[in-house]
Amino acid sequence: MKMDVLLGLQWGDEGKGKVVDYLAPDYEIVARFQGGPNAGHTLEFDGIKHVLHQIPSGIFRQNIHNIIGNGVVLDPVVLRKEIEALKKFNIDFKKNLAISKKATIILPTHKLLDAAYEKSKGDKKIGSTLKGIGPTYQDKIGRMALRVGDMLSPDFKEKYTELVQRHQSILDYYQFSLKNLPALEADFFEAVEFFKSLQLVETEFEVNAALKSGKRVLAEGAQGALLDIDFGSYPFVTSSSTMTAGACTGLGVPPTSIGEVFGIFKAYCTRVGSGPFPTELFDADGEKMRREGNEFGSTTGRARRCGWLDLPALKYSIMINGVTQLFMMKADVLNGFEEIKVCTGYELPDGTHTDRLILTGSDQDAKPVYHRLKGWNCSLQEVTTYADFPEALRNYVDYLEGELEVPITMVSVGPDRKKTILK
Ligand code: GDP
Ligand code: IMO
Ligand code: MG
Repeated sequence: MKMDVLLGLQWGDEGKGKVVDYLAPDYEIVARFQGGPNAGHTLEFDGIKHVLHQIPSGIFRQNIHNIIGNGVVLDPVVLRKEIEALKKFNIDFKKNLAISKKATIILPTHKLLDAAYEKSKGDKKIGSTLKGIGPTYQDKIGRMALRVGDMLSPDFKEKYTELVQRHQSILDYYQFSLKNLPALEADFFEAVEFFKSLQLVETEFEVNAALKSGKRVLAEGAQGALLDIDFGSYPFVTSSSTMTAGACTGLGVPPTSIGEVFGIFKAYCTRVGSGPFPTELFDADGEKMRREGNEFGSTTGRARRCGWLDLPALKYSIMINGVTQLFMMKADVLNGFEEIKVCTGYELPDGTHTDRLILTGSDQDAKPVYHRLKGWNCSLQEVTTYADFPEALRNYVDYLEGELEVPITMVSVGPDRKKTILK
């Protein structure tokens, strides 16, 4: 069996949580492979809305094993809160959730470092979620981090103290106050004790054995391709590999075992945090997208920047990830637009034109060139099959498929699990 991968193709918040929850019954395992509590994945069903940060989005489905892989950076305090918030759902976390002993742990000082680095950058700040992601991955690559497996060792406290002392000297350099640290540490060590009661295993063996025995595995991406550490709009990116390749290193699955790659995108674009966004709108249309799409961050509550769909960006994300199927999300958010624009390329300051994505250097001067399509300008409330779609929406899907050269096999028309239309 091959492992399928689901990834965001834009700047995150495409609706990954909704789709993973929708697809989960087709799988035996759902696994997160990168990122950490910077993610906010929203699921809606039975009139309730849930936001998951570190727990995979298969957790509400029966008989699904959920895995947090080695590529993830985990905050024990956040995980404990997430698990406690789900108590009323009677989920058997000891059975249905396994955590890699090789996953990296976020320490309280990683969060302080995140804040110190951001503050020192002034108006060049990344707009980080301040969950400690960057500093934790820095320590991982620097071969200094603590891993989940270290929690089980008798000298965990010594290892912790050694690393925290390094952090303190950096925080001193930034003259960053440590007054909150004792309280954060108390929470942290309580959460570590709780954490030890969970299933901490070598998840790479579990995933590969499952595939070998014919079980279906879905890898759930966090963030999006344009936030990837290598290919995103560096330095305004997150610190992990958000790509298909990241699913291999973040779970220990060989590239030859990758099956379908589901790429998901909104019918428009959003971005939260700083960095280039060529099709960003600062007018009433952008405001309307934010209002209709409720575009406020699931993790930080920040207003998301909104703009038209960017085809060069999508083509790039499809290329670097080997996307085999596309899912278009939040089509309903464009219901009230008489005209819909799609960026097909950019005009550069020297008057030349390019249809290649450029997100570094002088790209902020790149002016989007738009193709205009007629909007459907009606509600999608009653739509239950693809045949029910208004003609203009079908034209939009056909146009995008033609440009992107990958089939759009699913269109989402509302936040609820049921508002998912297969083509
Ligand atoms: P994720 O990080 O990719 O899982 O996405 P988020 O959960 O951060 O943001 C997506 C938001 O859009 C959430 O509030 C979802 O409930 C919502 N959503 C998902 N699909 C749709 C859709 O088709 N239509 C509308 N209106 N909202 C949707
Ligand atoms: P999901 O999984 C949207 C953004 C932050 C910031 C940059 C770096 O819900 O799609 P970090 O906290 O990683 O240091 O932030 O990346 N960012 C996200 N934006 N969705 C996310 O996750 C994000 N995770 C990080 O806003 O610009
Ligand atoms: Mg999100």
